[in-house]
Amino acid sequence: EKGGYPDFMLKEIHEQPRVIRDTLAGRLVGGALSIDELDLSVEELNLIDRVYIIACGTSYHAGLIAKNLIEGWARIPCECEVASEFRYRNPIITPTTLVVAVSQSGETADTLAAIRDARVKGARVFGITNVVGSPVARESDGVIYTKANKEIAVASTKSFLGQVVSLTLLAMLLAQVKGKLKMNQIRLLFRELADTADQVERILAECKPAIEEAALACKDARSALFVGRGMGAAVSREGALKLKEISYLHAESYPAGEMKHGPIALIDEGFPVIAVATKSPVYDKLVSNLQESKARGAMVVAIATEGDEEIRKHADHVIYIPKVRDAFSAITASVPLQLLARAIAVARGCDVDQPRNLAKSVTVE
Ligand code: M6R
Repeated sequence: EKGGYPDFMLKEIHEQPRVIRDTLAGRLVGGALSIDELDLSVEELNLIDRVYIIACGTSYHAGLIAKNLIEGWARIPCECEVASEFRYRNPIITPTTLVVAVSQSGETADTLAAIRDARVKGARVFGITNVVGSPVARESDGVIYTKANKEIAVASTKSFLGQVVSLTLLAMLLAQVKGKLKMNQIRLLFRELADTADQVERILAECKPAIEEAALACKDARSALFVGRGMGAAVSREGALKLKEISYLHAESYPAGEMKHGPIALIDEGFPVIAVATKSPVYDKLVSNLQESKARGAMVVAIATEGDEEIRKHADHVIYIPKVRDAFSAITASVPLQLLARAIAVARGCDVDQPRNLAKSVTVE
């Protein structure tokens, strides 16, 4: 049932082009976006003036990516918060607040408690989950199902991509309703979003040698830093989590601009810095952060945009991925990060599907 792959994680990583296609199927109707299951009228959606995305672990990282899109496109203030914090503080919630709860399993205890609390306080709650009929689906006002199908590996991969694509659709829908994106912009974005399925397919077909080379360079490290800026900062959080949960190698993620405020002290000869260095409006800033790390001996692995030869001057190992719009770069950049984490874990002899101390769903607080 591993479909010829050595582990479920690799099989699930390879299912991601299909997940993107299925998650987008039927969403563009007559040139406009539609998410009927949300069960909220256009008028009600239009009134939303604050969004909280609440989730745990990898699902939280999908939320961090979406925060950029919701604020960037729909111009609605959006916070993304881990459910275990959200549920025990006193966030500002009104009837025009939208809470988006993201959970692969749909049964994570903290996320569920946060949903209940938010509803008591009068928020509208949307669930984004992979499990039909799960508590998150049942207890939300509306639900978007990610089309990942059952995920077996404890480390989330395909469900993460399904969440990012679903949240991207939600951000586009909010922008459409608020009139912040025109219909022709929505159609263009949708087309480009759909194209990421082919781009991910190409990454899966072409990246292996570069991933293996980088994994070999990192496997004996004791610790690694993941850096990025903008969308790259958000996706690098997920890269670090993937690595630590399956390889037991300590990994931390920092927005690259924060390096000189502390983490750069960690860098000495050969210290791995894994950078999401795709072309973006903050690319030059990121490159200067990489120079600062390299000057102190860092061994830099860069996820970079095809055709970017300059990055070779600042990185020891480069993993090239196809060029996409910055808004969609988390989708493509997350794939080499998943593959890299897995390759390092395999090289260290770890059981990638069943990491120690972790369970697939966390139904207790
Ligand atoms: O089922 P959920 O999405 O609510 O689960 C949240 C986290 O427990 C989960 O994402 C966890 O971090 C994974 N092991 C990540 O790979």
